[in-house]
Amino acid sequence: MTRLIHGCGAAPVHDRAPNALSRGLSGEHIPDRPVTEPMTALEPRPTAESIREQVIDWRRYLHQHPELSFHEERTSRFIADRLAELDGLEITRPTPTSVLARLVTGRPGRVLAIRADIDALPIAEKNTHDFISTSPGVMHACGHDGHAAMLLGAAAILTSMRDELTGEVRFIFQHAEELLPGGAQELVKAGVLDGVDAVIGAHLWLDLPFGAVGVKTGELMAAADTLRITILGSGGHAATPHQTVDTIAVAAQVITNLQHVVARNVDPLAPAVVTIARIAGGTTHNVIPGSVELEGTIRTFNPRLRDSIGGIIERVIAGVTQAHGARYTLEIERGYAAVNNEEATCDLLRRAVTTALGPDVLVDATPFMGAEDFSAYQKAKPGSFFFVGARNEERGIVHPHHHERFDIDERALDYGTRTFVAAAIDFLGAKHQ
Ligand code: NI
Repeated sequence: MTRLIHGCGAAPVHDRAPNALSRGLSGEHIPDRPVTEPMTALEPRPTAESIREQVIDWRRYLHQHPELSFHEERTSRFIADRLAELDGLEITRPTPTSVLARLVTGRPGRVLAIRADIDALPIAEKNTHDFISTSPGVMHACGHDGHAAMLLGAAAILTSMRDELTGEVRFIFQHAEELLPGGAQELVKAGVLDGVDAVIGAHLWLDLPFGAVGVKTGELMAAADTLRITILGSGGHAATPHQTVDTIAVAAQVITNLQHVVARNVDPLAPAVVTIARIAGGTTHNVIPGSVELEGTIRTFNPRLRDSIGGIIERVIAGVTQAHGARYTLEIERGYAAVNNEEATCDLLRRAVTTALGPDVLVDATPFMGAEDFSAYQKAKPGSFFFVGARNEERGIVHPHHHERFDIDERALDYGTRTFVAAAIDFLGAKHQ
């Protein structure tokens, strides 16, 4: 954009392209650079423009060194070290592998928390760029490396603006988003949101092209609960099924009948998914096994539906197994609650995107049945989560999240950083000079 960020005295943040979306799709290429320990000598007064390359370097370094959920030792140390190089942040470690940094201006005002998750996945990377994972079987395949880098960038810029801000910005670098019970609820219990007025967070998003940032009030990401079923019968010879209770045949009926849960029992206007994603039973072609295991997932938005759908599932399983003389066990493990965006923080994000990146960049986000433990923060404080478009068809950056070739258009990092910065300035209110 050609304006200053509010009138707060910051240097111009960005020369806005005539149309940021078309610019985003134009294929401007950021060449791969060898990644060494990232440079840390920041300008005394970095802007998003000047820090853009630095954020990319941070992301590439983290991408090279991914760590699994609850094991982010090196990652969190790296983040804490970078934060310590900034001026006057109060840095703590609420859990062994998370980092909290507080930018306390000393002037009364509101408190905004910004959250980035930092963990990787048990996936063997198949990308060929020169900063691929150096940890066998572990990969940043969801973009959390970028989330951490974007938030470090925002911390660097906002720290340099301390004298012009009021209140406090709290930077939350959260461990273990990818693994139940999730790091968010631990951090909330540890008090990271105490005294916070609102919380925001972002996900780099491959369903959106680079150049678009998606915001949506209300339901954005689903609640996710895990389903574990065992069908129990009496095994026997495959040639004499009449002398057994055939658990394979009963399991097939259970799977088929579970399709009726969403199709025939749930309000068509209430989104829900019941998927059986794993079936395991039997050892060979001529033995009917005594048990078959099924595993799957339940996705919902509506909390009342979430509470009631397990009962419908159990009724179906009980009926089918009883009809065929089998027995069952059923376990439903509660996962993350739905991400449900609060109105005022969504408006804040819309203003931030428009101010920092231009009105062409702002789009309505499409809800997604995947889950996110950002919902744990929203249970405690008003908050909103948004999507930063990172897809680039021309450059083949199209693979979905959790794919072995997942990648991002790295220009999206700058969009995330600038949205965070603009939201913080807007929320805290710059001390105009
Ligand atoms: Ni993710």
